[in-house]
Amino acid sequence: MLHVSSMAVTIDRRRGGPVRPVREATLAVEPGRTLALVGESGCGKSMTCLAIGGLLPRRARISAGQVMFDGQDLAALPPEAAQQVRRRHIASVFQDATGGLNPVRTIGWQVAEAVRLRAGATRAEAAREAVRLLGRVGLPDPETRAREYPHQFSGGMNQRAMIALAVAGNPRLLIADEATTALDVTLQAQILDLIGDLRDSLGMAVLFVTHDLGLVAQSAEDVAVMYAGRVVETAPVADLFAAPRHPYTRGLLSALPRNAAPEARLATIDGVVPPIDELPAGCAFAPRCLQATDLCRATDPALERGLACHHGATSDPRKEEAPA
Ligand SMILES: Nc1ncnc2c1ncn2[C@@H]1O[C@H](COP(=O)(O)OP(=O)(O)OP(=O)(O)O)[C@@H](O)[C@H]1O
Ligand code: SF4
Ligand SMILES: [Mg+2]
Repeated sequence: MLHVSSMAVTIDRRRGGPVRPVREATLAVEPGRTLALVGESGCGKSMTCLAIGGLLPRRARISAGQVMFDGQDLAALPPEAAQQVRRRHIASVFQDATGGLNPVRTIGWQVAEAVRLRAGATRAEAAREAVRLLGRVGLPDPETRAREYPHQFSGGMNQRAMIALAVAGNPRLLIADEATTALDVTLQAQILDLIGDLRDSLGMAVLFVTHDLGLVAQSAEDVAVMYAGRVVETAPVADLFAAPRHPYTRGLLSALPRNAAPEARLATIDGVVPPIDELPAGCAFAPRCLQATDLCRATDPALERGLACHHGATSDPRKEEAPA
């Protein structure tokens, strides 16, 4: 349903010239499936989501590649036509739930309005549907809650309201960028279950960003790993956990304890992600990569069969380190 290929995002900075927080994003999400987008802070995950969802900040634009959604390239359509497709079919939820809610309207009004705009229902139908959706996302006593305002809700309740708002118009694609990061572990798991249920019953595709590899194993079928603005590996979850091919992916996974607990966080690897305006020549991971060769430092590897690495599939250092 969503096939992004070699998408780049350029920001025209007021000072210092243009930068590309996303250099090459290639990923696909299908109906009824969840793709997790992972990678350290600053790798371009949010910019990728914003670009797909049509929510890039001013001065930022998709500068290369394709964003095929249901056979139409959103990056090539006239901007207004692309936004129309997105308004109708793509919904986004972010970490800061309250930022997406209107403080002076009741929760029920906001969800009903989203139902009305997208599904063309009457006011009364939309109000009933809003209450039903608020119940569906697990708000107790949804009829009363629908009449309340965002400031009367807890963080977790607002997050649920945001999800109700996002799915109100039956989107075909839901983008959730760290939508649960601010919540406690139990609530995170509940909300991810909820998103999974909605995905299955509505046939949505879900693109989900997280720092938490435990959540990936629980909630996604496919993974895309991003490093310094590029997707460097994509694979089904089981394959990626069983046999990671990119040295960066191995690094992320290798510091996880065996049978990682659900709350396991993204591991730290020696070194840091280079700033986007100071990328090294060749493979951007080379300065941190134990397998880097002269070829790596000279030429950025293309993404082929889900892997962007000159030497990725040849050896797995974790296996070499394991006692015989
Ligand atoms: N307005 C801007 N001008 C210049 N650079 C920006 C701007 N906004 C973001 N960036 C840079 O773009 C890069 C990608 O940022 P992005 O927010 O997509 O990362 P991320 O992977 O979502 O990180 P995190 O895990 O911390 O959310 C970062 O290096 C960031 O500093
Ligand atoms: S291309 Fe080379 S430097 Fe980059 S990840 Fe692969 S082995 Fe490491
Ligand atoms: Mg982000």
